[in-house]
Amino acid sequence: MKEHNPGSVCQNLTIDCAAAVLRQGGLVALPTETVYGLGADATDPVAVAKIFAAKGRPYFDPLIVHVPDFDWLPRVVREFPGVAQQLAERFWPGPLTLVLPKSDSVPDLVTSGLATVGVRVPDHDLMRQVLRVADIPIAAPSANPFGGLSPTTAEHVRMQLGDRIDGIVEGGPCRVGIESTILKIEQGRVALFCPGGIGLEEIESLIGPVDRSPLMNCDAPTAPGMLASHYAPATPLMMVNQIPCVAPWARTGLLVLSEPRLPSSFPVGSATSYTLVEVLSPTGDLIAAAARFFQALHRLDAAKLDGIIAVRFPDEGLGIALNDRLKRASHANAVIF
Ligand code: TXA
Ligand code: MG
Repeated sequence: MKEHNPGSVCQNLTIDCAAAVLRQGGLVALPTETVYGLGADATDPVAVAKIFAAKGRPYFDPLIVHVPDFDWLPRVVREFPGVAQQLAERFWPGPLTLVLPKSDSVPDLVTSGLATVGVRVPDHDLMRQVLRVADIPIAAPSANPFGGLSPTTAEHVRMQLGDRIDGIVEGGPCRVGIESTILKIEQGRVALFCPGGIGLEEIESLIGPVDRSPLMNCDAPTAPGMLASHYAPATPLMMVNQIPCVAPWARTGLLVLSEPRLPSSFPVGSATSYTLVEVLSPTGDLIAAAARFFQALHRLDAAKLDGIIAVRFPDEGLGIALNDRLKRASHANAVIF
């Protein structure tokens, strides 16, 4: 990790340069279709340790390993059962992480001592080119300080970790905008560890019912990273079923899927109403909403508000993953209206 030096700006690296820095054990922020990742050589425990240090991430929270295509899997996993193959053929490259028995080349630090590793093929050309040129699997969590908002633009990374990393590969805003769906595959059974960029309906239409019980037990996580409080803005956030008629704070932000129907007695701009309103998709499209979700939260968090009201999404498609993020962002302050 670089010496802490607030104000220093990390460089935009070329693919060759990023690959060289990674091969030398450095830390590079990389674009993926979900969120920006904070990458290091997954086979080098010293490089991987720098990820935990830069993020302030506890060692019990394992990292996802990224590979550029299917053929690389034997480098990181020991077994690849039929159902994993079926899922990979359909959804890779893309926002799906499969948790499978790890190979010996993956250090224990990457998996927090677990015998399994989360692996995925990201759907971003720049990321896959870096992987190929570096010729190493890359461990990468989201490129934000532990527990904070995920970065979906290079600017988010610079603001949050710019002085702690060796460089960044700028790849524009992330197309999907929320993290991958995480499935664990054990003895042919498939369990959902975290909802994400691929809706469960799509997965179940391919392989049949998926076990959701690990997700229900978030307070006693079976995956070390399934923490109740996560993805949290610094500003207090409340998740609600409906927009409250009276904004609860003097300066209140509102995050909502489609055009809010605010009570006419509280028009936007009046003292008692909402100071800043973020509408994620005027047509209520959950895919478009996911792509804008973290950017909107970053803007709300930067607006010096007293609090943020976030309205629950429909519990379908990517709405399930968005509600999961909101629940964890609001853990300490949750009040349901
Ligand atoms: O889309 C994504 O998933 C992004 C991009 C960069 O790939 N990655 C990401 O990583 O968001 P991170 O570290 O922020 O979240 C990964 C989650 C963690 O909650 C972790 O606990 C879980 O994946 N995970 C990783 N390996 C695991 C394993 N072997 N068993 C169970 N959970 C695992
Ligand atoms: Mg994360």
